[in-house]
Amino acid sequence: MHTPEWLKDAVFYEIYPQTFYDTNGDGIGDLPGVIEKLDYIKSLGVNAIWLNPCFESPFQDAGYDVADFYKVAPRYGTNDDLKKIFIEAEKRGMKIILDLVAGHTSIEHPWFKESCKPQKNKYTNYYIWTNTWGEGDPNYKFINGYATREGNFMINFFYCQPALNYGFSPADPEKPWQLPPDHPDCMAVREEMRNIMKYWLDMGAAGFRVDMASSLIRGEDAEGGIVELWQDYRAWMEQEYPEAILVAEWSHPDKAINAGFHIDFMVHFNLPGYTSLFRSEKYRVPNSPFAGETSYFDKSGEGGCRLFADELAEQLEATSGKGYVSVPTGNHDIGRIRQGRSMDELKCLYTCLFTLPGVPFIYYGDEIGMDYVTGLDSKEGGYNRTGSRTPMQWDASANAGFSSADAEQLYLPIDPSPERPLVSEQENDADSLLNYTRKLIKLRRETPALASDGTYATLNSGEKGEPYIYKRSIGDDSYIIALNPAGKSAEVKLDAVISEEIIVSGVNVKDGMFTFEPGSYAIYRS
Ligand code: NOJ
Ligand code: CA
Repeated sequence: MHTPEWLKDAVFYEIYPQTFYDTNGDGIGDLPGVIEKLDYIKSLGVNAIWLNPCFESPFQDAGYDVADFYKVAPRYGTNDDLKKIFIEAEKRGMKIILDLVAGHTSIEHPWFKESCKPQKNKYTNYYIWTNTWGEGDPNYKFINGYATREGNFMINFFYCQPALNYGFSPADPEKPWQLPPDHPDCMAVREEMRNIMKYWLDMGAAGFRVDMASSLIRGEDAEGGIVELWQDYRAWMEQEYPEAILVAEWSHPDKAINAGFHIDFMVHFNLPGYTSLFRSEKYRVPNSPFAGETSYFDKSGEGGCRLFADELAEQLEATSGKGYVSVPTGNHDIGRIRQGRSMDELKCLYTCLFTLPGVPFIYYGDEIGMDYVTGLDSKEGGYNRTGSRTPMQWDASANAGFSSADAEQLYLPIDPSPERPLVSEQENDADSLLNYTRKLIKLRRETPALASDGTYATLNSGEKGEPYIYKRSIGDDSYIIALNPAGKSAEVKLDAVISEEIIVSGVNVKDGMFTFEPGSYAIYRS
């Protein structure tokens, strides 16, 4: 398998288009807004962007309910605007990946409207329907009573997101409505998705982040089916678009990469390590189901990071040379990493995130430490995710420079905090989180040992409240990253030689004895 060269030092920036930058004063971010801010994104040192869904949609799940996969939603602009993003990004040495909502459509999608008809037609089996309205299957979610067609349809997420039919592996003979993945109708769905990918890749997209990548095929051997499906797409992509990539929403890199993805996230579901590191207890969005103990990156010193460190080492071993793990700052589905943390605490945390192997992803606004906004009504199916989706805070002008619309017109309100961080302020402050983020990304891009392919070894796994120390290397070039997020001093003796201080804040090393002040961090050449 081929790994595109550009991935080896890639750093991604995730843009939620509705709240990034509004150029026409309607209160909603748009694609021309992304174009206007490309230089800013480039200035972070980022070389790739993941754009959340920007396609025609009734927006019952913020665009993860697509009504036309081939058309940009008018509120964001036109297909030509998207093409222009590809061109302008390329001029700046950046790639753009789109969000491929492969598992379902909106109930407004013409395929689904046809599928709802009692008369058999081309789209009858594009979705998963039981044969009669009395049937179901406790393993899956069905909606009944929606259509004149007899039967209930399966959904993936909300009621308005009917699951596309990629088949069951194996189909249960007792349930004749379950079709095998190689059934011509399931293959037709597979080809539809390939055509969609082809359309955007031909226009200049560099690949896709695939929504719910692990759940397209169902049944007792769902995983076997999924591996076959994605390996088929990957083989096709390698032939036709060798520079393009697939990023999974799977949260099990060993499985996703084996199935043909180039990158998968270690995030809040499936693997508990991510949650334990950054996102447990007070760092979760309210009512989040992803419970955990206290985060390791917390000044209480109550958390430990062995779980994460072990999980990371395991995932790296299983994917080495084949694809990349990503430990992102966050995304549009979880709380902001800033929640409950000071800028200094974030600096310690980012020293970790930007020196881990694999491919970093920055959720828009995390580079300035935007906070989760509490107390908002749900917007477009956001529920408790809504507070992580508020407008980007550009400057001190009205609406934080996001939009010229009236404040009530905005897609979501601006963070009302008088201390809300702003790009404009942080630009001029050498010590700001923004400039620290830039510094870390620059270091990573100039130092192959710290980039995607450098090896990783845990030196001190940070049992409850202890420092987390690890080593990154390529050949003879080695670096030691030493972190003490706890609000207390610490000492760790290691058999390690330090040859150069790269970034040091509150850590001292003498004869292998690392002495840490509370909330300290350092990167050394070893
Ligand atoms: C995952 C997406 O990230 C999330 O925002 C969406 O609601 C679900 N998949 C359903 O598409
Ligand atoms: Ca707009």
